[in-house]
Amino acid sequence: MTTPWWHGAAVYQIYPRSFRDANGDGTGDLRGIIDELAYVAALGVDAIWLSPFYRSPQHDSGYDVADPRSVDPMYGTLDDARELIEQAHARGMRVLVDVVPNHSSFEREWFQEALASLPGSAERSRYHFLDGRGPGGGTPPTNWQSMFGGSAWTRITEPDGTPGQWYLHLFDASQPDLNWTNPDVRADGLETLRFWLDLGADGFRVDVALGLAKDMTYPDIDDAEGLILALRMDLDDGSEESRARRRRVANSAILDRDEVQEIYRDWRSLLNSYPGDRMAVAEAWVPPERAARYVAPDTLHQIFNFDFMSVPWDADRILAVVEKTMRELETVLAPPTWALSNHDTPRVVSRLGGGSEGRRRARALALVAHCLPGSVYVFQGEELGLADVELPDDARQDPVWFRTNGEQKGRDGARVPLPWSGDVPPYGFRSTDADADADADVLWLPQPQDWAPFTVAAEESDPSSTLWQYRAMLRLRRAHPGLRSEAWEMTEPQGGLLLIRRGDGFACVVNCGSMPRTSPVPGRILVASDSSVVAEGDSIELPPSTGVWIQT
Ligand code: GLC
Repeated sequence: MTTPWWHGAAVYQIYPRSFRDANGDGTGDLRGIIDELAYVAALGVDAIWLSPFYRSPQHDSGYDVADPRSVDPMYGTLDDARELIEQAHARGMRVLVDVVPNHSSFEREWFQEALASLPGSAERSRYHFLDGRGPGGGTPPTNWQSMFGGSAWTRITEPDGTPGQWYLHLFDASQPDLNWTNPDVRADGLETLRFWLDLGADGFRVDVALGLAKDMTYPDIDDAEGLILALRMDLDDGSEESRARRRRVANSAILDRDEVQEIYRDWRSLLNSYPGDRMAVAEAWVPPERAARYVAPDTLHQIFNFDFMSVPWDADRILAVVEKTMRELETVLAPPTWALSNHDTPRVVSRLGGGSEGRRRARALALVAHCLPGSVYVFQGEELGLADVELPDDARQDPVWFRTNGEQKGRDGARVPLPWSGDVPPYGFRSTDADADADADVLWLPQPQDWAPFTVAAEESDPSSTLWQYRAMLRLRRAHPGLRSEAWEMTEPQGGLLLIRRGDGFACVVNCGSMPRTSPVPGRILVASDSSVVAEGDSIELPPSTGVWIQT
């Protein structure tokens, strides 16, 4: 049997709002993505993952889906989606689309029907509607909290004008949770998968994959707030406390319940019935010891590795996360995944300290992520070494910002439109043939003034840029026999020096310490994370916060 394409794939995450704007309205679109597929293919990735572009009132940047089998006019048409998939295929790249099964938008027809129907009706049973507690039912049915802040319940007004039932929303009030024990919901989920598979999609990223099954006795839970915090990636600092919080998630009333796998068994059968190794990757922020359930041979194919995504700049901690990930997934023979960031987390440059030091560390850690067995996911702009943008508060859009009354800034800083060329905003984000009179102020999130060195055009002409490093790593992932092999070995760090070997002839060395070090492995440099890394003959000197790939 040949290895399925996704086993060692490099996947590039496109956040359509911020990738490239072909029609000049200040928001990215599908045509913009089509126009830049050559750029993506030239990176050397095997697939792209598209964050949601479905019809949506955009209260959570499209993760509030009003019609899961449509394209929002702000992004284009269904024909554009079809063309995007075809053109990506023509360039040798697969396409994963994002499915959002845990909730819908409140603008979805189903929810509007539920509001217009009576308590206990079939329409209401597609969601979680409950009577409130206390006098007049004025208190939420449980103490569950929204991940975006505040109660997870919102009270509705009944069709006759009286204060009525409450509905559950683990996220924004505009995102009511669907009831997956309802047969309509189950059937509709499969229909959505079929729709995109028929259009040519190669698979799915499954949003909030750990949330679909709920304890429908609706008990109060201990530490409802802690449980929810456990799932906020942007708040995880890799600390013991964050990890402990996350361990408490397992089989709580609302998250990571074992029954959720029954849904994925149906999905797996459907995926298996299509040709071409269609796959699904779970967004499930669970500790490694729970991860294997999501990627058993009869459930999904991959699961994001959030432990790696939050690991601090510390050689021992990096080693521990890598070993644990490999060990847990070996039992189910699922290939691990590695990512440094996504649209929900701070960008890795910022997470590792910000500024030029954060960027040095991020580039060195990228060498680790890209050399391990399994798949690597790259969030758009990471290949440019972008940092989070400090946005003015009046520009913020994230529901987290609004629901916490500004206590938490939210995730907008990582979602700013990409810089393509030029010295000032909008840095070529809008195609040149778009309306020339439009000014940069219309971008949905403002870009900073200091991005000129980080545009695609600027980095393309600079061999020491992050972009060149990413292209070199991605090319070698395909070309180097060591990186294609199953073998890997990681040695106990000495003085902050990480050493990973892959097969014959490949080593990755990263200096997480504060002193310059000589690589314990001699050889020829294949890729260096920084131009300060020097070789004298076979001997390689690594300043702090740098790394290399070596032909040994
Ligand atoms: C996932 C998405 C995130 C979204 C949330 C609700 O975590 O990645 O962006 O806000 O689900 O859909």
